[in-house]
Amino acid sequence: MTHPSPQSRKGIVLAGGTGSRLYPITLGVSKQLLPIYDKPMIYYPLTVLMLAGIREIAMITTPQDRPQFERTLGDGSQWGITLTYIEQASPDGLAQAYLLAEDFLDGASSAMILGDNIYFGHGLRDLLQSADQVTQGGVVFGYHVVDPEHYGVLDFDAQGQVKAIVEKPTTPPSNYAVTGLYFLDGTASQRARSVTPSARGELEIATLLDSYLQDGHLQVQQMGRGFAWLDTGTHASLLDAGNFVRTLNNRQGLQTGSPDEVAFDNGWIDRAALAARSKIFAKTTYGDYLFKLAQE
Ligand code: TTP
Repeated sequence: MTHPSPQSRKGIVLAGGTGSRLYPITLGVSKQLLPIYDKPMIYYPLTVLMLAGIREIAMITTPQDRPQFERTLGDGSQWGITLTYIEQASPDGLAQAYLLAEDFLDGASSAMILGDNIYFGHGLRDLLQSADQVTQGGVVFGYHVVDPEHYGVLDFDAQGQVKAIVEKPTTPPSNYAVTGLYFLDGTASQRARSVTPSARGELEIATLLDSYLQDGHLQVQQMGRGFAWLDTGTHASLLDAGNFVRTLNNRQGLQTGSPDEVAFDNGWIDRAALAARSKIFAKTTYGDYLFKLAQE
């Protein structure tokens, strides 16, 4: 494996897919543009990459949904970031993202997040920034769930070391799922070229991660019970995520998943730019929140 010259880590938000578990809603609109309470779903994973300090981000969408994503997110300049749109013609698996984004990455290390994954927790920024410090190999996060069979699942050896990641097993080896956030070094696209389609016809992320694991280059960090990792792929989980965000907003009076706030905190946009954003949303509590933030 050749190790390309270091450059800043780039981001990928994988927001294609069919969303068939949300039919009939997603017959006409991308899942990742549906609301999670007061903001489009895509805001939440995008904000996670921004929390990690990443400013150059590729948005992978289906060809038909791309115009709506562009209308929703623009070129990123309102948040001091650069958004590049890449089309995935058919949902052939998560690892395909690294092939589609190969030119965009241009040998840089990356953080990829699934467009329907939501993270919340004290210390999230620190966790992300420490993963960003790992320049060789990969970092993924393990999270205890009740239904591991729906995810890539961690299989531990007697010493508690991860020996395999098993994709959607009928008999899960543990309750620890690998969440939809992958920090990989600049060899990811090169490795993805060796991934062959699985029995269900997808280029599996588990196979790509296994290539790192076999080389002893995969770190698995536990995301403890102080974090919420929500998946929004079904009608019930979509509503639960919306209620979760609403509860937090109402109780704390603070936002979660706001790219506007994180851009301002990171110093990527100034007070005037934040105030201008707040005016666009003047009829909403989200707009009020940004307006107050710009005055503080
Ligand atoms: P999934 O939830 O596995 O698939 P999906 O979104 O198409 O939904 P469903 O199972 O209801 O048909 O995908 C997880 C995330 O990854 C989601 O945000 C969509 C995205 N994705 C892609 O962008 N391209 C792909 O090839 C796949 C498999 C998923």
